[in-house]
Amino acid sequence: MKEAMLQGAKQVLDNNFQQDGFTIPSKGLYPFQWKWDSGWIAIGLAHYDIERAKTEIRTLLDAQWENGFIPHIIFHNESDTYFPGPDFHKSELHPLSHKKYRSTGMTQPPITGFVLQEMYRIAKDKEDMMNFIKEQIDKVYQNHVYFYTNRDPLDEGLVYIYHNWESGTDNSPIWDDIWDTMNPPKYTFERRDTTHVDLSQRPSKREYDHYLYLIDIAKHHSYDDGKIAEFSPFLVQDPLFNAMLIKSNSALLELYDLIGGNDAKKALLKQWQKKSIANFNDKLYDLELGAYVHYDLRNDRPIRYLSSSSFTPLYSGIPDKKKLEGMVTALIERFGGDDKYLCASFDPTHERFNPRKYWRGPVWINVNWMLYHGLKNYGYPELANRVKSDTLELIQKNGFFEYFDCRKENLDTDSSGYGGDNFSWSAALVIDLLTEENT
Ligand code: GLC
Repeated sequence: MKEAMLQGAKQVLDNNFQQDGFTIPSKGLYPFQWKWDSGWIAIGLAHYDIERAKTEIRTLLDAQWENGFIPHIIFHNESDTYFPGPDFHKSELHPLSHKKYRSTGMTQPPITGFVLQEMYRIAKDKEDMMNFIKEQIDKVYQNHVYFYTNRDPLDEGLVYIYHNWESGTDNSPIWDDIWDTMNPPKYTFERRDTTHVDLSQRPSKREYDHYLYLIDIAKHHSYDDGKIAEFSPFLVQDPLFNAMLIKSNSALLELYDLIGGNDAKKALLKQWQKKSIANFNDKLYDLELGAYVHYDLRNDRPIRYLSSSSFTPLYSGIPDKKKLEGMVTALIERFGGDDKYLCASFDPTHERFNPRKYWRGPVWINVNWMLYHGLKNYGYPELANRVKSDTLELIQKNGFFEYFDCRKENLDTDSSGYGGDNFSWSAALVIDLLTEENT
């Protein structure tokens, strides 16, 4: 079983690899390079094709803007199977955008720092990998400089996102509270996602109007971060996004230790890290809910719902013992019933939960991968192993889908795998889970 799954996963990654040196997330649905997908994909590739793993990251970092920003999608090729494409996003409006690659003007969770560290852990030839890291690491560091300089208007060490697509959790019910504060125009456009995937598993047309309007506002200000902070109706401190930045800060620090020197960079990283972790715990932890929540900076209020993002700080070592206990209780009680696979993307006890719709309930493999490592590192091996075996069982029963129904008894359809099929990061992270020691 393990061998067949491994072969299947490699096949998915091989088929999705493109000549331009990157891997698409899923054929048809996502035909370009996505920022955080590339990171997860590189972890999987590192296990069996280290050169391609390096190429994946090199290609991503090559598209970095002059101000350190790394876009969420890089449009390497012309494809009309995706909307909104490069002509809608118009990254060229920003004076420091890349002159060669067209892209979006928004970003995605900053995982590249810890991905470099994972690649180093996996690589057999450490010296060779260290040479690669030396070549690339400053670009990732510059990306962190970008975040702390441009996305932290209150100087809290907590950076904002200005679009739901920046969170990676595109249509989470968290954003409904923000949509309630907006009234965007009704756009006329031809969606492409619903030609690939059933509409019941994708965001609604009205939700898309909000997504497009936020981009239009950012474009109106030529993607200037200061103006966006002033005018965007969507301005959020997201626990997943910030937890990734914090984890990547730690990874950069450890890698710079191995490299030696780089004292000024290390000093700055330590300074950010201290402030970020302290404010993360003060501002984003919700004592009553027992986990971390989003903060709406525009309307100055917490958005008090539990989602799988609430638990990702476990992966970054952020909670202390007391918070940790609250989180484990919330995870088991709300998400972990015997009739469910861990971990639903949104609180299954809440009325906004929808087990089939994208980030409104289904299980995602990348979040499970983080939870598994987080719980293991905090000394919860049983719960960690449950997350791992649930993950592998979902893939085994359904295939390498994009997301999965968390209900063990799913009477709606005969498959619990939804969204894009042959989805790259599901395959890549299964390779990592199957290959780790003691499997
Ligand atoms: C969806 C996901 C996002 C991912 C992208 C490409 O938009 O919500 O997190 O990066 O697909 O796979």
